[in-house]
Amino acid sequence: MIRVAIAGAGRMGQSIASILEGNSNLEHVGTWKRGDDINRLVAGADVLIDFSLPEATEEVLASVERYGRALVCGVSGLSSEQVAQIQNAALSVPIVYDRNMSLGIAVLQRAVSDAARSLGADFAVSIAEVHHVHKKDAPSGTALKLGETIAKARGEADTGSIAFESERRGEVPGDHEVVLESPTERLTFAHSVTTRDVFAEGAVRAAAWAVDQPPGLYNMRDVLLED
Ligand SMILES: NC(=O)c1ccc[n+]([C@@H]2O[C@H](COP(=O)([O-])OP(=O)(O)OC[C@H]3O[C@@H](n4cnc5c(N)ncnc54)[C@H](OP(=O)(O)O)[C@@H]3O)[C@@H](O)[C@H]2O)c1
Repeated sequence: MIRVAIAGAGRMGQSIASILEGNSNLEHVGTWKRGDDINRLVAGADVLIDFSLPEATEEVLASVERYGRALVCGVSGLSSEQVAQIQNAALSVPIVYDRNMSLGIAVLQRAVSDAARSLGADFAVSIAEVHHVHKKDAPSGTALKLGETIAKARGEADTGSIAFESERRGEVPGDHEVVLESPTERLTFAHSVTTRDVFAEGAVRAAAWAVDQPPGLYNMRDVLLED
């Protein structure tokens, strides 16, 4: 039985807790809420799934490092310093960090990378995303991740050449559209999430996978796809 702790009792934390309820291989040992002692919870778990917010990242990393526990982090909107802290912690514990835990986005990431590499810099790239009104960061972590993948595939240092567009509407769980366009043709990739359970299921799968890994920084492509 793998003992799983959750950081963050919000929309994602609750969705992960309900998925764990129906899983006979993973046991939900508790959820860290603001003001609680994270160390006691992490000490009694094999893996921590973090879907809190960036303000908690430092505390989360310190705790998993202290007890040598695996971490799955899905928090988006992290600063570059916080990403560097994750990289540093991954020297001593296995960490799956991904701003999108769905299989569809892992496949989309590979597809847009291929497309951008083949089409080259003559094609203008735009990435549009729509999310629910409660989402705090914009553009979404997924849009940024797709943009960074495309920039890398085109040999560009950053996402400066890519146009991002964000819309916040109702309870939309997450839509992304990537368009690569020249004066003569247009290629469109689109991904839509119908329920946020897809992210929760991906995070649970990552947790079961992470406990068997050596220290290192992994993403959902490592968990879900064979390259
Ligand atoms: N990777 C993915 O696939 C994926 C998918 C969906 C969402 N996300 C990201 O996951 C994160 C959570 O999303 P969500 O929709 O669940 O957000 P949410 O509903 O706002 O939940 C965040 C939770 O974290 C808690 N929290 C924040 N700071 C904390 C701290 N210092 N100590 C303890 N708890 C703390 C909040 O508590 P309070 O209520 O007390 O503030 C809240 O319960 C966001 O960054 C979101 O962008 C990632």
